[in-house]
Amino acid sequence: MSEPLDSAAKAILHGNDKGGYTVPTAGLYPYQWNWDSMFAAWGFSTFDIPRAWEEVETLFTGQWPSGMVPHILFHRPDPGYFPGPDVWGCDGPVPSSGISQPPVAATFIRKIWEQDPEAGRAHIERLVPQLADWHRWFMAWRTDRGAVFITHPWEAGRDNAPDWDNAMARIDPVGVGEYQRRDTAHVDASMRPTKEDYDRYIWLVQRGRRLGWDDAKMAEDPPFRVADPGMTFILLRANRDLEALAAEVGHPTDEIADWTRVLEDGAETLWNEELGCYDSRDAVHGGWGESLSNASFLCWYGGVDRPEMLRQLDRVMSKARYGVASYDPDGAKFDSKRYWRGPIWGIMNTLIGLGLSQCGHEEQARRVKATTRALIEDHGFAEYFDPLNGAPAGGGRFTWTAAIWLAWAGRE
Ligand code: GLC
Repeated sequence: MSEPLDSAAKAILHGNDKGGYTVPTAGLYPYQWNWDSMFAAWGFSTFDIPRAWEEVETLFTGQWPSGMVPHILFHRPDPGYFPGPDVWGCDGPVPSSGISQPPVAATFIRKIWEQDPEAGRAHIERLVPQLADWHRWFMAWRTDRGAVFITHPWEAGRDNAPDWDNAMARIDPVGVGEYQRRDTAHVDASMRPTKEDYDRYIWLVQRGRRLGWDDAKMAEDPPFRVADPGMTFILLRANRDLEALAAEVGHPTDEIADWTRVLEDGAETLWNEELGCYDSRDAVHGGWGESLSNASFLCWYGGVDRPEMLRQLDRVMSKARYGVASYDPDGAKFDSKRYWRGPIWGIMNTLIGLGLSQCGHEEQARRVKATTRALIEDHGFAEYFDPLNGAPAGGGRFTWTAAIWLAWAGRE
């Protein structure tokens, strides 16, 4: 480990700590984001396990009666962010958005618990039923042929990925009205989604609000549903971890084991033979997203091994200096600076690295980790990075980049 970088990473976590929860970065993202927060908890657990549990427990205070855990919790109003609680119009226990985000929670809860099982017991006893409710909600309302779909690009956590382009193009954002974006006041517009995309994002939020965020009503005539390798592999992995935690606290495991089997079959419906990779699939109209992305490489993390994916990984890594680009550097839509259309995310590298190592691909795992470590050593704790030269992009002093440094990239 490197002392100065460890201290810098801890200072970022402390700086973004709002008391019980951590914001991804000041300014651009002033609230609690679901998966960011679970990476933060893992980062905290390397030096302050009680604070890690606090982060997790705060996220679950926002869980809806349906089991859904929202993608953003708006604990305290902040005018610097759009769309805020007034636009979403949700009535969960904590003001929130109306969609979810990648369910990495069970996996990181298990990692935190393993560091001090005694201290964590009361937490997992409380959290296992909550996690099971959340996973059950995914299985009931977000699966198509066993693959997990999203109902809004933001639900995937890969907001602006090319995966959604075809399905987004079918939406006519009629009546979306005037609104004032805030993201481009914090970050250069060339790194953020376009106005065409933003109109559709907001149109989908307005539709959810009109339907009272009722899952059954939203499922009627859905305008956007894309089955995503990222969500599918992440839930698959989380579900394996949930089963282990459930066994530990004497919670029934049969239902959870069934979900794993359904998701394993579902993952195979995302295999795009022509492209030779796991790809996103339009669950309403059919057709592929035609995207080899860093989410395709989460297969190992989900426990699914496939030799073709190792070959794809070697190719993609040979094109970028610092790890796994978010979109194929040889692909037609590659853009090294724009949000999820090329840049590298340290957290995605981390999940890919953990998966590779779990499947016994140690050499590739070491390579992903070494390039991520070099990226942070050379270019700091940015939100994401240009894969060609490592230039930092998006927000700075970013919580999840600091967290994965402490828990993974900065460790042997
Ligand atoms: C962006 C990312 C999303 C993340 C959020 C906060 O919206 O696409 O994955 O959770 O920022 O960091």
